Amino acid sequence: MKTENHHASRRLSPSLQPKIIKTAKPAAYFILLLLTYSLGYLSYHPSSTSLPLSHSSPPPQLPEPVIGFPINTTELNPFRITTRCADPIPPETVRRTLVDRLFNGTSPFENFPPPHAAEKLRRTKRVKGWGSTGAVFENLIRRVRPRTVVEVGTFLGASAIHMAELTRQLDLQTQILCVDDFRGWAGFKERFMNIPMENGDVWLFYQFLQNVVTFNQTGSVLPVPFSSGSTLMLFCEWGVYADLVEIDAGHDFLSAWADINRGFRILRPGGVIFGHDYFTAADNRGVRRAVDLFAKVHNLKVNVDGQHWVIYSS
Ligand SMILES: C[S@@+](CC[C@H](N)C(=O)[O-])C[C@H]1O[C@@H](n2cnc3c(N)ncnc32)[C@H](O)[C@@H]1O
Repeated sequence: MKTENHHASRRLSPSLQPKIIKTAKPAAYFILLLLTYSLGYLSYHPSSTSLPLSHSSPPPQLPEPVIGFPINTTELNPFRITTRCADPIPPETVRRTLVDRLFNGTSPFENFPPPHAAEKLRRTKRVKGWGSTGAVFENLIRRVRPRTVVEVGTFLGASAIHMAELTRQLDLQTQILCVDDFRGWAGFKERFMNIPMENGDVWLFYQFLQNVVTFNQTGSVLPVPFSSGSTLMLFCEWGVYADLVEIDAGHDFLSAWADINRGFRILRPGGVIFGHDYFTAADNRGVRRAVDLFAKVHNLKVNVDGQHWVIYSS
């Protein structure tokens, strides 16, 4: 072989020899790379991190795939929601139902504040909010006389407490359900230095509870301290409907869009959905784009009341 190759190279013209050497080198590297890759591929065993199987045991039976039908993952249909909302439960049972199902039957206000928190919480009648006492609240509460209000985005409770005060003045039996994960948003602590923090956990929820206690509104305000998405879907499944739904949580388009769509589904016939910051520039006017698109899709009209948008369901 050596002689043959030797002869072969001798047969080539001297001008071709450097060219062949030039191309042979990368080709050799490529073949080496290919060989390494193939060896690696062949030696890969997917169950190498699971418990070792004895050599005699049969190959593991994979479970049947849960989804047995093809899904068109390229189909982008944001309006397709499959969960069916339950029939509405009576408004007078809403609070009890939620306390039982969310809090094991014990109101979050019971024995509040716990001794270790009592000294750290502020007892003040000045609660920070944004547009929380705007005329829209009184206008809508007088008009709708709601039994149930769902507020999506509560923070320290300024708008919820204001609504509770209004319903008290009007002698209404209203429950205000405050949906908020009480986590604020990344970086919010810099602006709210006086909210206590323990082990990295800001006591937004505790301070909210304290504010409701300070205003003596524990009977008409109930926190629902979970994410808006999961809560609104659960309300729909449990038949918890509202006469008024206020949207004031995430102000980017996707958050506002999701909250408005989910909030609208739990609106009683004749109910009103409304929200803050129709004019804010956040996320390239994300709230406004979500509201306008929603109204367009459902052929509804957007009304403006101060800084708020308002959509009447009928
Ligand atoms: C602008 S503040 C609400 C202000 C309140 N309505 C007022 O007027 O005082 C927004 C609140 O939404 C909450 N939030 C934001 N995204 C949320 C989500 N996906 N689920 C639950 N709460 C959320 C934050 O924790 C924050 O407390």
